[in-house]
Amino acid sequence: MTDANWLDAAAEDAVFDVIGAVLAGCEISLYNVEGHIHATDNICTHGQARLCDGFLDGFEIECPHHQGRFDVRDGSPTCEPAKRALRS
Ligand code: FES
Repeated sequence: MTDANWLDAAAEDAVFDVIGAVLAGCEISLYNVEGHIHATDNICTHGQARLCDGFLDGFEIECPHHQGRFDVRDGSPTCEPAKRALRS
């Protein structure tokens, strides 16, 4: 990418569903929903689970530990026990 404010995390075609990546020392998850790429923190705000190991259902990522859910578009929690938003 040519813009100095952006960093390349992965090739777009490498994001088939959900993948984890490390970008500038931060763990992130990348999601492909209907051809649009979204990014959030990879670590669930409820615990230490990696969301890249979860289940992507539309715009929601389900945590593999306790099935909390987040909207990948803005990181907001959509199902308990997740209560705090992810950075997106
Ligand atoms: S660790 Fe993710 S919902 Fe509990």
